[in-house]
Amino acid sequence: MSTTFQLDTSTSRANPTPAPMKRLTVPKIRRRKKDGITEQPLVMLTAYTARQAQLLDAHCDLLLVGDSLGQVIYGLPSTIPVTLEMMANHAAAVVRGSYHSVVVVDMPFGSYEASKEEAFESASYLLKQSGAAAVKLEGGQAMAETVAFLNQRGIPVMGHVGLTPQAVNVLGGYAARGRNDAEARKIVSDAQSLDEAGAFAIVIEGVVEPIAIEVTESVAAPTIGIGASAKCDGQVLVTEDMLGMFERVPRFVKRYEEIAGIIEKTVETYAAEVRDRAFPGPEQTYQPK
Ligand code: KIV
Repeated sequence: MSTTFQLDTSTSRANPTPAPMKRLTVPKIRRRKKDGITEQPLVMLTAYTARQAQLLDAHCDLLLVGDSLGQVIYGLPSTIPVTLEMMANHAAAVVRGSYHSVVVVDMPFGSYEASKEEAFESASYLLKQSGAAAVKLEGGQAMAETVAFLNQRGIPVMGHVGLTPQAVNVLGGYAARGRNDAEARKIVSDAQSLDEAGAFAIVIEGVVEPIAIEVTESVAAPTIGIGASAKCDGQVLVTEDMLGMFERVPRFVKRYEEIAGIIEKTVETYAAEVRDRAFPGPEQTYQPK
């Protein structure tokens, strides 16, 4: 069933029809995994704009305002230059465009690693500016104390282990992780540390499948896989990747559409009509009464 939006001009709020279900909450997401079993896998996609959020919202449990917006929206070479202000602005747009999903916002590189106090300041800024319900941060055991600190002070945290793009300069690239025993053990113990610290969910990115399964079986919190395993408790993809907006995508992305081709063809038609003076036509012009 598709959702349509009517603009309420007095509030500039676009109201959806049919009326959405109540917004999910972080505790509800956490409770989807009971005694190690998640009957209904969690659906998460990235969203960066209000309109994108409107289109995704009814189909998702979580919308992630990922710092991948650095590359996807801003054309940056990595997530490293992304700022708190960028994250707050896009997260606020996604909150305005959604009614049902839990909105999670990424903490950008350099905004949380130095101390748990710095992390609280940055995370509270993000939530205040945007109305998002939770933050996500990268890193395992080294971040566990920060996760507990935030959680105890009212800020739910989603963890992120395995391939952590903000650490690209340490990792030396975006290759899959967990291929040797030491790396695999570290990923499992990182996820366990985050779980014990109270992370409400944990993203497992770019990890060999047996390790993703081992993590999923060894933590109480739901895991959300990306380049991990269908046995994770949920899945996430970058929306533009799965829609086919880019020529090159990582191996783990399934392209569900070829949107870039559709956009290019449509713009080609528009350009030809403008050049032929075929647009605007009678339907798009105003005539005196
Ligand atoms: O920034 C992002 O989009 C992410 C997902 C890929 C998990 O962290």
